[in-house]
Amino acid sequence: MKSSKEIIDLSERYLSRMYKHYYPFVPDRAIDDTVYSIDGDAYIDLYAGVSIVNVGWSNQRVIRAVEAQMHKLFHTSSLYYLEYTAKLAKKLSELSPGGALTKTFFTNSGSEANETAISLVKRVKKRPYIMALHRSFHGRTFYAMSALGQSNWKVGLGPFAPVVFAPDPYCYRCPLGHKSCPECGFACVKYMEDVIKCEVGGDSISALLAEPMLANGGMIVPPFDYFKEVKQVLDKYSILFIADEVQSGNGRTGKLWGIEHYGVIPDVMTTSKAIANGLPLGVTIYREELDSTLRPGEHYSTLGGNALACAAAEAVLEELTSGLMDKVKENGSYFKRRLESLKDKYEIIGDVRGIGLFLGIELVKERSAKLPAKEEAVRFLQEAWKKKILVGLGGLEGNVIRIEPPLVLTREHIDIAADRFDEILKNITAQ
Ligand SMILES: Cc1ncc(COP(=O)(O)O)c(C=O)c1O
Repeated sequence: MKSSKEIIDLSERYLSRMYKHYYPFVPDRAIDDTVYSIDGDAYIDLYAGVSIVNVGWSNQRVIRAVEAQMHKLFHTSSLYYLEYTAKLAKKLSELSPGGALTKTFFTNSGSEANETAISLVKRVKKRPYIMALHRSFHGRTFYAMSALGQSNWKVGLGPFAPVVFAPDPYCYRCPLGHKSCPECGFACVKYMEDVIKCEVGGDSISALLAEPMLANGGMIVPPFDYFKEVKQVLDKYSILFIADEVQSGNGRTGKLWGIEHYGVIPDVMTTSKAIANGLPLGVTIYREELDSTLRPGEHYSTLGGNALACAAAEAVLEELTSGLMDKVKENGSYFKRRLESLKDKYEIIGDVRGIGLFLGIELVKERSAKLPAKEEAVRFLQEAWKKKILVGLGGLEGNVIRIEPPLVLTREHIDIAADRFDEILKNITAQ
């Protein structure tokens, strides 16, 4: 076996400079909530390959399902009728928000799922624009990226596809300067209506594309009445709602889909990442009535709905609906409480937020000024790795520690992680 140094050298030599690496870490294998490096060290995983392996690394039910399918067919074409896509689409429909979404198109990634959703709503509504939220993340294909509410990944790539942006419900740093919600009267939703009226007009916007909880933008959980308010505005202008559940879905928040916390049923929902626990699968699922205007052959993806990925996804959905989400609620609340007690101890923690195992710690230079503590966040990430904990980094300013572990994370590992965070924060704030 090669050493980590050899693999890093090989990567530096042959991989594109566009890859970003957090630290010199070479994972080799993983089980449940633990990743082992090629040098044999065990790491508690609080990032799950960026919110991918929700039902745990090396999940046996998933492995068995993929193995069984592998001996039958790796892949064939959607030009034929396929048992595995039909069965999975039925299951997704039954488990969709309110059971109201009944038609599915499969692709290979979150970006493609969103790209599909956008082309779908434009075909149905015949309106040129999409609306998206500031700080949102929807992927790197052209339209998904055009709808990305963070400019740092768009530099030099414009002009973009037609998108208008509304302010995000980031209450910790309300973009409209309010102190609390709902006392603000949902000012950001009122502003959304202004965006519609002042920029291109409701008749020009097909849909709002929004993450129920904004992950990459800083683990932002909108207030629980937010989407009801939003839906009223959308309905007024007959604008559809696409919920991007690539990250907030698949059990991460203690419900199967993030939008289920909001009592609102989207017209279209997209997911990917954890749905196949690491195999590439994109899902775009929508209301029956949107289907009638579409034509056969209008959209196509060669490998989308690949046989192995579909087999994995069926197993993932069985795992998620066999009691795992109750554990997410309990362990998520427990983890959040442990993080809140760190907030009581360290000024550098401006905010602890999240739901289920979708958690964020926002680091600030000073609580009252809320100046983003970017360098400290990078240090936190690296110190955590040195202490054998894997976390992620997010937020427009890169000052939010992202915690999105496999949902099978144990209590023991939560305690170890929180204790190590305590040591890290002590070190960071001592200087
Ligand atoms: C909310 C959300 N949507 C879409 C995507 C894009 O998914 P992919 O990288 O699979 O294309 C991501 C990726 O992180 C995401 O977080």
